[in-house]
Amino acid sequence: MFHKFFFWAITCFMFGSLTFGGAKYVGTKSCGMCHKKDDVGNQIKVWKNSKHANAYKALQTEKANEIAKGKGFKTKAVDTKECLKCHATGYDVNKSMLEEDFDIADGVQCETCHGAGSEFNTKNIMKDKNLAEQKGLLLYKNPNDLCVKCHNKQSPTFKGFNFKTEWAKIEHLDPKVKK
Ligand code: HEC
Ligand code: HEC
Ligand code: HEC
Ligand code: HEC
Repeated sequence: MFHKFFFWAITCFMFGSLTFGGAKYVGTKSCGMCHKKDDVGNQIKVWKNSKHANAYKALQTEKANEIAKGKGFKTKAVDTKECLKCHATGYDVNKSMLEEDFDIADGVQCETCHGAGSEFNTKNIMKDKNLAEQKGLLLYKNPNDLCVKCHNKQSPTFKGFNFKTEWAKIEHLDPKVKK
């Protein structure tokens, strides 16, 4: 019984469907309104230039459909939960949890890693790290633990994962935030 619950909790946490107290997904456009200046790390630009922004679209290719078929799935890759779980966000929640600017085609997006944002995405809350975390913002003391939830052997195209080199490709820290 305990194990069953534990498995469920971990699974939900892993793929972000355990949203904070009914928080909704606001979408990258919404986060990007404030996170677009170079002096605070221009997170939206780093993300747009990363492959994470393309993760959903990568499932809409012939290559993806072939991989899905090879794995024994009868559905197209983009309609297959076992693919979406690492390539998308918001595919498994009630539509009422998705705000207007949310776009599933944004793939692995801000809220995939930082949690659904409708309760924390105001300036006053965001400036107060503890409060933001209480409102559902997810931060990471050990980012590698987050990465390997998707960058692992369950990925059909997995060839290994080196945190240091891969983090360097998507690093988007705020130079103003004291560590
Ligand atoms: C209204 C403006 C605004 C919006 C919208 C916004 N943020 Fe922020 N965010 C801030 C400010 C201000 C800070 C504090 C850092 C600073 O002052 O440079 C911050 C900090 C953060 C931090 C770092 C927290 C810390 O202390 O380490 C993360 C992560 C973050 N935001 C993610 C998001 C995500 C994800 C979204 C969309 C769901 C979002 N933000 C939407 C303004 C905003
Ligand atoms: C693949 C996962 C992932 C995605 C996608 C992602 N982040 Fe992050 N983000 C992290 C990790 C890991 C850190 C560093 C550890 C931490 O501060 O929690 C971080 C750090 C940050 C910080 C700086 C915190 C600091 O203390 O300097 C901000 C601001 C932020 N992210 C905002 C965003 C925004 C806005 C987006 C979308 C445009 C986004 N992130 C997309 C994983 C991600
Ligand atoms: C929710 C699942 C998920 C998480 C969590 C995640 N990634 Fe990814 N990542 C992906 C997917 C899916 C792709 C492939 C996208 C594509 O190629 O279209 C990818 C691709 C990448 C790439 C591009 C690799 C290349 O071949 O150029 C880098 C770099 C990367 N991720 C770094 C990270 C880092 C660093 C973390 C942790 C901070 C992380 N990722 C967390 C799903 C994830
Ligand atoms: C455990 C998480 C995970 C699962 C499940 C997963 N992927 Fe991925 N996928 C990734 C990651 C991470 C990458 C990038 C690096 C790598 O290949 O490990 C990726 C890369 C890809 C790429 C390469 C994109 C490019 O840039 O060429 C395709 C295509 C792909 N995945 C299709 C699928 C299909 C189809 C399924 C379902 C049968 C699937 N993936 C299931 C995590 C996953």
